[in-house]
Amino acid sequence: MPKSMDDITSLAKRRGFVFQDSDIYGGQQGFWDYGPLGTLLKRNVRDAWWSDAVGSHNELVAPAGAPEAFQMVGVETAIIMHPRVWKSSGHYDLFHDFMADCKGCKARFRTDQVAVAAAVTAGGEVAASEAFLPTDEAPTLSKTKQKRLDKKTGEGGEVIRTDLQSFTKQYPDAPLPNCPNCGGDLTEPREFNLMFKTTLGALGGEEDAAFLRPETAQGMFVNYKNVLDSSRVKLPFGICQVGKSFRNEITPRNFTFRSREFEQMEIEFFCRPDASDQWYQYWRDRRFRWYTDHGISESNLILREHHQDELAHYSVGTADIEYKFPFLAEGEYGELEGVAHRGDFDLRSHSEGKLVNRNGKLEVELGEDGKPKHPGSGKSLDYFDAETKEKFVPHVIEPSAGADRATLAFLCEAYEVDEAPDEHGKMQSRTVLRFHPRIAPVKAAVFPLVKKDGMPEKAAEIYGALKRAGLEVAYDQQGAVGRRYRRQDEIGTPVCVTVDGDTLQDGTVTVRDRDTLEQSRIPAAEVTAFVRDKIG
Ligand code: GAP
Repeated sequence: MPKSMDDITSLAKRRGFVFQDSDIYGGQQGFWDYGPLGTLLKRNVRDAWWSDAVGSHNELVAPAGAPEAFQMVGVETAIIMHPRVWKSSGHYDLFHDFMADCKGCKARFRTDQVAVAAAVTAGGEVAASEAFLPTDEAPTLSKTKQKRLDKKTGEGGEVIRTDLQSFTKQYPDAPLPNCPNCGGDLTEPREFNLMFKTTLGALGGEEDAAFLRPETAQGMFVNYKNVLDSSRVKLPFGICQVGKSFRNEITPRNFTFRSREFEQMEIEFFCRPDASDQWYQYWRDRRFRWYTDHGISESNLILREHHQDELAHYSVGTADIEYKFPFLAEGEYGELEGVAHRGDFDLRSHSEGKLVNRNGKLEVELGEDGKPKHPGSGKSLDYFDAETKEKFVPHVIEPSAGADRATLAFLCEAYEVDEAPDEHGKMQSRTVLRFHPRIAPVKAAVFPLVKKDGMPEKAAEIYGALKRAGLEVAYDQQGAVGRRYRRQDEIGTPVCVTVDGDTLQDGTVTVRDRDTLEQSRIPAAEVTAFVRDKIG
């Protein structure tokens, strides 16, 4: 049975994974709060990423598939950066989406998120068009709409599928399709900068305007030289950061997938230009593997290499790691992470000023007065290779992941409804989150079979030992054991440990596996090692 997003979001709220932000005031679109279990889950996602990127990285040994050994360091940079950062990086001028409003129902749409089917005549004229939201009926049009459009194409014409953004670009004179919500008239698409603006200091003039960062990446670029000078790193090396980013999204939607406040996990990997293609491929494959290593099935994941015309003006190559989220139509995937080969664009922009692509070459953009439109810092961000005595601007490979999107993907992937025996041994439907044990919010639950005969005391001892070992653990003595298993299955706890009469005789406990439902007995003293082993 296909997974239902409604079931997943309702479980997320009921069990304290994710709540609408400011819920008691009616909530705010695009903002979410993580509850006790969601906080643990997201922390595990961040930790798994950090451990892979920085914590357990061995800079003395080249990992499998890497051209050579490399260093990785972490930083934590400010959310409000110098306003000139965004001018040099291009975000001030270019970080916008196009939006259109409905004059009738007042709905607001990002034009790249509205699908359009249009009847185009043999002469290239748009005879009719229909707009709809991709999740409604993609990738095929409903039969009635298809028929209606087919009729209008005339001899030799065709029905094309595109999105509203491309449609208005390709056919600027064609009438706009009607609102996908109510059929009302849409306004002409217009630009909207996604950066949240704020004001520094008490006076608050336009010159004091600052922005909440829309990505953590720029914090790494502006600190590239500080890191180089202070950490004795040598090329190739990566700077990593996990932190909040903010985008005033026009249409936040699909639970936490597109939010206005979210967290990113980004790596800026600096390397020699002549080795950059190899590193791009290495990071693309390694980051894909990170998701499968943490429980995402390969059949639900794709690595989508961008076409040449999709690439940003500075990018040599970009691949998206995309997941089959249950809120998407059959055949559609949603981006989890982008891995981009950014060349020397970022370091040069922060050194020379905002760059534009002129005839395939990056050049400083000039204003009407012939001076750089947005000058950079003027500081040299060259790298001096002490061995070869060469000076050059390193190239950058950027694997940029969303912590909230990864958390949502792990939650969707883990969600399953299967059958398991209840406390009377009767097969009943059960909801289970099959998280990878490293991602699971709670690693083990301890139950005394009954609330007497010294069992709660023994269970509390095991619970305490697991806590002291730094493991997140639950204690439950309410109701039948079968019901307690169900409560833990529903939040994805991999191991349940039951203290019973035999424990008091021979010191063994029952351990029950969430996925196989198998039960076995092990000495109580080995429970911590057993759970650790499961986490791997
Ligand atoms: N520095 C490059 C960069 O920021 P991006 O593709 O705009 O690239 C990287 O963002 C990742 O951040 C995305 O793949 C996604 O996981 C996450 N992300 C971006 N916008 C988001 C949003 N509005 N809500 C949640 N996550 C978002």
